Amino acid sequence: MSNPGSLRIAAISDIHYGKSSAGSMTQLFSQIADTADILLICGDLTDYGLVEEGRVLASDLQSFKIPTVAVLGNHDLESGQEAELTEVLSRAGVRMLDGDTFEYRGVGFAGIRGFCGGFGRGALGPWGERVIKDFVNEAVQEALKLESALQKLQTQHKVVLMHYAPIRETVEGEPLEIFPFLGSSRLEDPLSRFQVTAVFHGHAHKGAPEGKTQSGIPVFNVAHAVLKHSYPDRPPFRVFEVQTNDGAEPGVTPIVDRRQYGRRSSDRVEGMSQ
Ligand SMILES: [Fe+2]
Ligand SMILES: [Fe+2]
Repeated sequence: MSNPGSLRIAAISDIHYGKSSAGSMTQLFSQIADTADILLICGDLTDYGLVEEGRVLASDLQSFKIPTVAVLGNHDLESGQEAELTEVLSRAGVRMLDGDTFEYRGVGFAGIRGFCGGFGRGALGPWGERVIKDFVNEAVQEALKLESALQKLQTQHKVVLMHYAPIRETVEGEPLEIFPFLGSSRLEDPLSRFQVTAVFHGHAHKGAPEGKTQSGIPVFNVAHAVLKHSYPDRPPFRVFEVQTNDGAEPGVTPIVDRRQYGRRSSDRVEGMSQ
């Protein structure tokens, strides 16, 4: 657990629970509970968005002892059962965010699913066919949801979780042809406007683990496959420490628990610049 005056945030994504996934992540969940104060899950909680899959995950989270905050991903919408899925996970104690906020020990969290459409000058514009306008509008609506969620938070630190990527940098590693389907720059504007402390997302399974918005906000891709590939000697979750002391500089520090990762056992926590 963290020191008073700081909060340890664990983040994972794209766990893609299926009907036969029972128990597959319980060891990971217990490592997370031993290390962090709160867990963020950034979407693709299930493989096909089936309530049955959600029940399997809910059961594995039953004995999880720290607060859990999650957003849905595109896979969670595949079967049109997202409302029931949200209900099943909420009943299991998971705070499901969809343009909503959650505050814990002085840190504010805002969550959306997000959407795609591409990045920077390559972003799709709302022009021409109705279907293109609707497609672009989905990303605009998600950005507006994020903006109104962030508006509600009065905390010094605001942490955002979303499924899709808000910047190009953390999808790099994926085939260039699919970049437009991995996220949208439209999700970046509210992050800068509200001077968010850090952003966590998933979806780009072959993306890069870290990047920054144009205004310098750290962005972390915590997709399960990305973490396994980028940090093969560690369990596939990341932990960040946020200083919650009044007047502390806003920021997050990625940390590694040496004991957990089998390194020196004298110090529990090592500050790392990665
Ligand atoms: Fe995924
Ligand atoms: Fe996804």
